[in-house]
Amino acid sequence: MSTPLPWLKPGLVVGALAPLTALALQAATGALGADPIAIALNRLGLLALILLVASLMCTPLKLFFGWTWPLRVRRALGLLAFTYAAAHVLLYSVVDQGLELSAIVADVVKRPFITVGFVAFVLLVPLAWTSTDAAVRRLGFERWQRLHRLTYVASSLGALHFFLRVKKDVSEPLVVVLLLAGSFGLRLIARARSTRPAS
Ligand code: HEM
Repeated sequence: MSTPLPWLKPGLVVGALAPLTALALQAATGALGADPIAIALNRLGLLALILLVASLMCTPLKLFFGWTWPLRVRRALGLLAFTYAAAHVLLYSVVDQGLELSAIVADVVKRPFITVGFVAFVLLVPLAWTSTDAAVRRLGFERWQRLHRLTYVASSLGALHFFLRVKKDVSEPLVVVLLLAGSFGLRLIARARSTRPAS
């Protein structure tokens, strides 16, 4: 039997990488405006967070609507989020800070906004590293699942990093926080329902 929606994963990967291609083209042609580094940093960071939140919405969509297709793209969404986060951190370290380790360490230590982003990124590394079927087999499903609960912490820190960055209008970070709260809340409701004894 053929897989339903065979175009789903390739379509997602192409669609999710399109903004990265557009950004690279704009950067190469000098079309990013007066402060290209800040624009590119913000765009990459925002896309990383959006994809991370989208990966966390997959399980609630399955639990509440019975859709199975979100589970088929959950891992790809997580890896795409990591790709954008890594590009974001790379741009910051190489272009913004000129790979000066002492300046990067000073920034991480002194600016709470950067500290939070740094911790979020550090937490994403083992998640991306263990995103293969081989890693699930090696760790065992229970340990793998426990480790992957770090996604909640990493995404919450990503949202806090966003909150701390914006100075006045907090509406965008607020949308991210509401989506995350919705995703966590729906999981808790589903868990409570499944453990409630049948009356
Ligand atoms: C070592 C880790 C990180 C560093 C050093 C870092 C640094 C930065 C910097 C310098 C900016 C731009 C600030 C400005 O122009 O005012 C920024 C913005 C942002 N970063 Fe990060 N970041 C890190 C990790 C992350 C991670 C892991 C995420 C997401 C999961 C993330 C999401 C964002 C978002 C959403 C923005 C703001 C975007 C906007 O305003 O549209 N960052 N980050």
